[in-house]
This record gives sequence, structure tokens and C-alpha cells, in this order.
Amino acid sequence: MLFKQQAWLRQKLLVLGSLAVGSLLYLVARVGSLDRLQPICPVEGRFGARGQADFPLRALQFKRGLLHEFRKGNASQEQVRLHELVQQLPKAIIIGVRKGGTRALLEMLNLHPAVVKASQEIHFFDNDENYAKGIEWYRKKMPLSYPQQITIEKSPAYFITEEVPERIYKMNSSIKLLIIVREPTTRAISDYTQVLEGKERKNKTYYKFEKLAIDPNTCEVNTKYKAVRTSIYTKHLERWLKYFPIEQFHVVDGDRLITEPLPELQLVEKFLNLPPRISQYNLYFNATRGFYCLRFNIIFNKCLAGSKGRIHPEVDPSVITKLRKFFHPFNQKFYQITGRTLNWP
Ligand SMILES: *[C@@H]1O[C@H](CO)[C@@H](O)[C@H](O)[C@H]1NC(C)=O
Ligand SMILES: *[C@@H]1O[C@H](CO)[C@@H](O)[C@H](O)[C@H]1NC(C)=O
Ligand SMILES: *[C@@H]1O[C@H](CO)[C@@H](O)[C@H](O)[C@H]1NC(C)=O
Ligand SMILES: *[C@@H]1O[C@H](CO)[C@@H](O)[C@H](O)[C@H]1NC(C)=O
Repeated sequence: MLFKQQAWLRQKLLVLGSLAVGSLLYLVARVGSLDRLQPICPVEGRFGARGQADFPLRALQFKRGLLHEFRKGNASQEQVRLHELVQQLPKAIIIGVRKGGTRALLEMLNLHPAVVKASQEIHFFDNDENYAKGIEWYRKKMPLSYPQQITIEKSPAYFITEEVPERIYKMNSSIKLLIIVREPTTRAISDYTQVLEGKERKNKTYYKFEKLAIDPNTCEVNTKYKAVRTSIYTKHLERWLKYFPIEQFHVVDGDRLITEPLPELQLVEKFLNLPPRISQYNLYFNATRGFYCLRFNIIFNKCLAGSKGRIHPEVDPSVITKLRKFFHPFNQKFYQITGRTLNWP
């Protein structure tokens, strides 16, 4: 009886023991693989092509104030030389989409100490006249930066312009491309609203959105209307994919960037191989504006221009339904290609 119990106990202990050893082995393996995937203490500044592996980002943060002064355009040749400032071709481009939130995205990424934005839309690749001036002309349009930083440009027309993918490919075939999108029907109305405001400023009358978006003869969605065409994201993306693999694109959810910017920005930091530096501190909600403002440091903050939150005209709900139905299959395709599913109707 006693012997039997002992045997039973021994067997139990054996099972427990092997379980413990198994768990330990599993843990070791897991920690090992985690270690390889994401180091617990990420090395600072593991980016840039110049192999400056340990460049402290804190130094760039510190120099931001100085760079800001220089960005006003009054750095002398002497200062440029002294601080070893350069004008670099972009390592990443926000290619679109119009009314998707390209400005907000650029301004927010500029919070990162390693990022320098080109303030103006340069329209180098979509404008034949500019493109003919050559790549050095483009470089000279870039802001001053430290060599360890990366420059980012945005021109939303790039996304829909036929010639652009090939031209960007010729400049840098491994460049990173950011696309910020919003729900297609909302984007189309926003696009219309901006054009409408331009017309109103010139005292011109303009068609109603419904009249432009729906073909009166067929009662179908008018795919010739530019605001509709731009929102068929997958059609445009497919042209880009003839030149760049999908891994070189990152889709930003423009609707979420407005309501919840930080997680979207963290995804972009990861895509750009930047150490995470944008934090909640940098983004504060301004209740008066109903929008996030940017805090660079204790002294310098910035709210995006007021005109960005335009009030849309009221649109016939049946037209909205029709458009949403029209965009639906294209949206599904877009999710499938990009691997990013958005909550669009
Ligand atoms: C740039 O110009 C402004 C105004 O003239 C001046 O206050 C500022 O100090 C200048 N910045 C630099 C870095 O020279
Ligand atoms: C091209 O872009 C990639 C990705 O940003 C970058 O690592 C590389 O240095 C760029 N090449 C040139 C020549 O700028
Ligand atoms: C538009 O019309 C208003 C009122 O009729 C007038 O005051 C304004 O100067 C006009 N603007 C332009 C650009 O013609
Ligand atoms: C919040 O927005 C209002 C209205 O645009 C502006 O006057 C105010 O300065 C902003 N406050 C902060 C702290 O940015």
C-alpha cells in the first residue's frame, strides 16, 4: 500500500517535474526569440543611411530650436557650414490623398526629432515643368537638416498623377511611401467643399455636389468626376504597384489620425524605422477647436490652421448611400492589397 502510494507520488512528481522543465525551456526559447525580435532597450538612432548607429536623438531634440530658426530661411552660409547642415532628398514621401489629412500627418511627424518636413508642397514629380528642372532643383527645395535626420515631403497630387510612380522610382527605388486615406465618400465631399470655397471666393457659382457626383442621364455614380475618381484608392494604388512592392507603402487612417493621433503616429514611426519619440505630451486636445494641437517643447506649440475643419454642405442622403455602395467593392480590394482593414461602410 505504502509502496504503491510512493510509486504514485513519484510518477506525479515526475509529471510535475517535466512540466516545470518544459515551461522553463519554453520561457528560455520565448525570451530568446523576443530578444531577437524586439530588444528590451532599443538602441537609439538606428536609422539613416550613414551608419551613425549611436547618434543620440536627444542631441537633435536639443538642436531643434536652432533648426527652427534656420527654417525661417535666414541661415547664413557660414552658419550652414558651422553646423554641418545639409539639404537632403526625402527618404519618405506622403503621396496622398488630397483631403486625407496629409498636412496634419506631415506636421505631426515633424514632432519627431529625427524628422524634418518640407513646408511647401513641392510638386516636383507631378508637374512637368518642375520635373524638367532636374533633381538638384528638387534637392534645393528641401529644408536644412542635420545629416542624421530624414526629410519628408508631401504633395497629395502625386497619388493620382500618372507619371509620378516611375519618376519617384527613378530617384529612389527603395523610398518609403505614405498614403493617408479617409472614408471615400466623406473625402469626396471634402474635396468638393474645398473647390466650392475657392469658387465662392471668386464670386463664382458652382454646381451642387449631387449634380457632379451622379450622372443625370444614367442616375449612376459619375466616375468622370475627379472627386469621385480620387476616392477609388485601389485604382491608383495598382498603378504604383507596377513600380514598388507593397512593403514600401504604409496606409495611415486619416479618420483615426484626427480622433486618436498617437497610435497612428506610432505605426508610422515603426514603418520608418525611427525610434519611438512622439508621445502623448506632444499632442494635446484643444476643446475650443475640437482638434489636437502639437507641443514641440515647453515653449513651442502649434495648432493646425483653422480652415482645415471646414463645414461640409448637406448632401442628399440617397446620394451618400449610392456613393458608399459604389465605393464598397473598391474598398474591399484596397484592404486586401494593403493588409489594412478600415471601418468604412
Ligand atoms: C532670423 O531672422 C530673425 C528676424 O530677422 C532673427 O530674429 C533671428 O535671430 C534670425 N535667426 C538666425 C539664426 O539668424
Ligand atoms: C532611398 O530610400 C531609403 C528608404 O528611406 C533610404 O534608406 C535610402 O538611403 C534612400 N537612398 C538614397 C540614395 O537616398
Ligand atoms: C464678391 O462680391 C462681393 C459682394 O457683391 C464684393 O464685395 C466682392 O468684392 C466680390 N469679390 C470679388 C473677388 O469679386
Ligand atoms: C485653442 O484653440 C483656440 C481657438 O482656435 C485658440 O485661441 C487657443 O489659443 C488654443 N489653445 C491652446 C492652448 O492651444
